[in-house]
Amino acid sequence: MKSLMDPCCQRCAHRPETPCREYLRCRTEGPLCHDDEQCRKARQGRIEAVEGAAQAQRPTQNQINESPCWRLLVCAGTGCIASGGAPVVAALREAVEQRGMSSQVEIALTGCHGFCEQGPIIVVEPGKTFYRRVSAADALDIVDTHLAGGQRVDRLLYRLPGGEAVTCYPEIPFYARQHRIVLANCGHINPEDLGEYLARQGYRGFLKALAMERAAVIAEVKRSGLRGRGGAGFLTGQKWEFTAGAPGEEKYIVCNADEGDPGAFMDRSVLEGDPHAVLEGMLVAGYAIGAREGYIYVRAEYPLAIRRLQRAIAQAEACGLLGENILHSGFSFRVHVKAGAGAFVCGEETALLTSIEGNRGMPRVRPPYPAVKGLWGKPTNINNVETFANIPHILRRGADWYAAMGVGRSKGSKVFALTGKVNNTGLVEVPMGLSLREIIFAIGGGIQGGKAFKAVQIGGPSGGCLPESLLDTPVDYETLLEAGAMVGSGGLVVMDESTCMVDIARYFLNFTQQESCGKCAPCREGTKRMLEILTRITEGKGREEDLGALEKLAAVIKATSLCGLGQSAPNPVLTTLRYFRDEYEAHINDQRCPAGLCAALLTYRIDADKCRGCTLCARHCPVGCITGKPREAYVIDETRCVKCGVCLERCKFGAVIRR
Ligand SMILES: Cc1cc2nc3c(=O)[nH]c(=O)nc-3n(C[C@H](O)[C@H](O)[C@H](O)COP(=O)(O)O)c2cc1C
Ligand code: FES
Repeated sequence: MKSLMDPCCQRCAHRPETPCREYLRCRTEGPLCHDDEQCRKARQGRIEAVEGAAQAQRPTQNQINESPCWRLLVCAGTGCIASGGAPVVAALREAVEQRGMSSQVEIALTGCHGFCEQGPIIVVEPGKTFYRRVSAADALDIVDTHLAGGQRVDRLLYRLPGGEAVTCYPEIPFYARQHRIVLANCGHINPEDLGEYLARQGYRGFLKALAMERAAVIAEVKRSGLRGRGGAGFLTGQKWEFTAGAPGEEKYIVCNADEGDPGAFMDRSVLEGDPHAVLEGMLVAGYAIGAREGYIYVRAEYPLAIRRLQRAIAQAEACGLLGENILHSGFSFRVHVKAGAGAFVCGEETALLTSIEGNRGMPRVRPPYPAVKGLWGKPTNINNVETFANIPHILRRGADWYAAMGVGRSKGSKVFALTGKVNNTGLVEVPMGLSLREIIFAIGGGIQGGKAFKAVQIGGPSGGCLPESLLDTPVDYETLLEAGAMVGSGGLVVMDESTCMVDIARYFLNFTQQESCGKCAPCREGTKRMLEILTRITEGKGREEDLGALEKLAAVIKATSLCGLGQSAPNPVLTTLRYFRDEYEAHINDQRCPAGLCAALLTYRIDADKCRGCTLCARHCPVGCITGKPREAYVIDETRCVKCGVCLERCKFGAVIRR
């Protein structure tokens, strides 16, 4: 029996063709349809292989030395595949076969672990050994040294900045402080095997919901305090209640997997690593709201996520978890996948629904809200991927368990995509209310190259930039809004001292301006005007009245834009004006970029006292504007200098000065 979905023997009467409510229990606690110790042991062994190993916090040396059955969890997420994961899998399979260990070793392909920059990643169970930057050439060593020899392969272990190796996955600082609920299965199960999801309590939340009144399910979600993880943070249970109460027999459930924020990949990772969790969340929503059909709108640039989703849907259909009369409960539900063309505005809920209907994804005025008039004009509940992935846990473990996590009106955990100038980039899931400092320094390992922290952009392209003085701000919906930022979908971009905040504001506004669908004038024209002013300032042509003009434009655009894109586009400009105004003033009043980044405001000069006349700068200057004689001081012709900074990079004597 390779998977829990396989029948254990001929007598197994619980079959996918005739699924009943006992079907899932039979697969995980059974067999229930016949009594056989051997069959029970086989099922239990399989569950222990998938779940037991993942449960143990720290392995004993015996587990490492004497494991009867190894499980190699090889990351097959997009990141690890991109860094060369596929040949590693092939080499591991070959090595296991070559050493005659096929019956003792299982190679399971998993979803993303979140620490993609360390990829390709392999976790060896039991033992929770985390191997990183593995190549095909390491395969034999892993099999010989670890699996056959009982010793870890030291050179593949993660190392702390001091060089000390960390042997055990949960003790790596990046993971140690995380609290993984939504990501708990990612990297630990094979997302293409429904049996592995079942082994980790999969579909138990849905079974519990099926035994409840619909209104009680909604009340449970409401009581948990879960708020939408797609940006606006609306109470999920309340939204479900609106859609359930809207007039009309035909209703829809939509999962928003558009994930348009640049740098964000939390939704993709959940879809790739644990697709059944999203389907289970949708099933619960469908049952509670009274919908018979669901759509997952996922961008076409996520082919692996689409493939895994389609596979998961097919598996769930094959065993009666999707389709007509699910588990003989009288409830029917189907799920369709719609690939979107990947425009940022298509993530906006009304634009997304328009796109599913086959039209160009343009937002429309709300109200009416989708809960009343959504897909094909019918009541529609739309939630984000992460929101749906929280639902099975809430149903299974209860609203109180969930509500006990977090702070104030922000409950549970949130997945963030930690990127930028931080040492440990990746996906982190933390309880709501953890401080920015803990996320960036304790989990993220601090700033790259020992540089100073300057700001963190939180909430995606329309979030806000917060300064060092706000590092102790707890990450929750209300506190971040007060500070001018937002939780958003969970983008966290860390910036160091070499970042120019005016240039950053220009960068983000450029993104939203380009992604504006153009339907409403404040967003279409207003962001363009703001961008012109910001560009002028970074070019040293700023005027005294520019800052006031930016603030006025921002206020009008926020108040009058049709959709959330325009309403939030000015946020990066407003927060940089609020917290880094001195940088704007330096650009305008002194024609100076304090970070030394805006090319138009820079000058390069050679300090004659330090220059040894080594010729390196002159030889590498792309425009030949540096002249001099060997062993004498060189000179830069500023009228021809293109300010590329190559001379500064090449000089070994610190003689090139940038101002
Ligand atoms: C321009 C724009 C882009 C958006 N992109 C996304 C997205 O990619 N994914 C998402 O779930 N929500 C996105 N949203 C928010 C959705 O409109 C909607 O609020 C959300 O999907 C509701 O789900 P939730 O209640 O679970 O958060 C976007 C909103 C705007 C204004
Ligand atoms: S893809 Fe492997 S860790 Fe993210």
